[in-house]
Amino acid sequence: MTKKILITGGAGFIGSHVVRRFVQHYPGYTIINLDALTYAGNPENLTDIEHSPNYRFIKGDITDEPFILSLFKEEQFDAVIHLAAESHVDRSILDPLAFVRTNVMGTAVLLNAARTIWKDKEGKRFYHVSTDEVYGSLGESGMFTEDTPYDPRSPYSASKAGSDHLVMAWYHTYGLPVVISNCSNNYGSHQFPEKLIPLMIHNIRQQKPLPVYGKGENVRDWLWVNDHASAIDVVFHDGLNGETYNIGGFNEWKNIDLVHLLCSIMDRKLNRPAGESAKLITFVQDRQGHDLRYAIDASKISQKLGWKPSLQFEEGLEKTVDWYLSNQEWIDHVVSGAYQQYYDQQYSHR
Ligand code: NAD
Ligand code: DAU
Repeated sequence: MTKKILITGGAGFIGSHVVRRFVQHYPGYTIINLDALTYAGNPENLTDIEHSPNYRFIKGDITDEPFILSLFKEEQFDAVIHLAAESHVDRSILDPLAFVRTNVMGTAVLLNAARTIWKDKEGKRFYHVSTDEVYGSLGESGMFTEDTPYDPRSPYSASKAGSDHLVMAWYHTYGLPVVISNCSNNYGSHQFPEKLIPLMIHNIRQQKPLPVYGKGENVRDWLWVNDHASAIDVVFHDGLNGETYNIGGFNEWKNIDLVHLLCSIMDRKLNRPAGESAKLITFVQDRQGHDLRYAIDASKISQKLGWKPSLQFEEGLEKTVDWYLSNQEWIDHVVSGAYQQYYDQQYSHR
């Protein structure tokens, strides 16, 4: 089957894994990666496939309405997989409007271009990649299902919830063929070291303090990024229009336990005495409005579409640590310049 697919945000963490998967698994598809290359987007994430005959990169901003409309007109895409976003909760607390612009307005611009250009909707698909954070925060028990009411609490999650609502509005109002997935926390290679796991790996390596927010008792549900990419593949091909699918690995960890596990893996890999890296753990001021617990019930995607994660967490974490230890140049590159400013601002008051 031939298809021309626009993937937005393909130079970022998850997007680069999705682009690579689609370019390699579907040589008959043409994959066009549209990315503004913000601090989080890095073309180096895709050097291994950048010369593939079925791949093209376009630098551009999803909030630029005339540009997006002319791109849709020129390229006549069959489908969109939309990942471009501002994605870091702490940054959304510092600069909420940037999140509203990209995540809400950017999504609306893409939806509107698709509605305008796709006169014949047969075979078309607008796939919006979203987050479990739209459901808010859980207590000690329970899990998010597709029927859990939306209750976002951070500027990031509210902007993603807003974008999800817009996608469903374009489905109900204009009949745009849409599908949404809401995934839990991803980890793996190429994740910008501002998020918990790569930040801790980076700091342990440099023997810098490991900033654990509050008491470290918040719980996240972790999924290997390649398993998220395989789920996106399944939802893109087999998901039903107008439906949402939760994606997760049934893999909950308290932050402090996860940081201890990382410390012990790193001690072993770096030939440090057991317990050495854990001495770097530093409890710092909590994140404002810090959601206590996320847990995804991924039964629907498993039962309806037959998807399951492929990797155990400990194995995935080892692979991830190995990748960061062998790619110091990548880390040095992405953390240079503007990142250092953000990092200093982020931790100066904690
Ligand atoms: P990321 O921050 O690593 O990458 C985002 C990408 O979007 C970057 O390449 C950036 O350059 C690009 N981008 C940002 N603003 C843009 C704009 N205005 N126009 C065009 N491109 C722009 O994010 P990620 O962690 O890979 O997340 C990707 C998507 O998956 C997001 O929509 C996020 O909400 C969602 N998601 C992430 C996770 C997670 O754990 N990281 C979990 C569930 C869902
Ligand atoms: O649940 C999916 C979401 O997961 C995605 O939608 C977001 O894009 C992604 O960033 C992630 O959000 P979190 O806020 O859960 O991820 P983060 O890695 O920032 O933090 C994970 C947990 O670790 C959270 O409870 C806050 C805590 N933390 C984080 C950092 C960066 C710390 O204790 N110290 C830190 O330095």
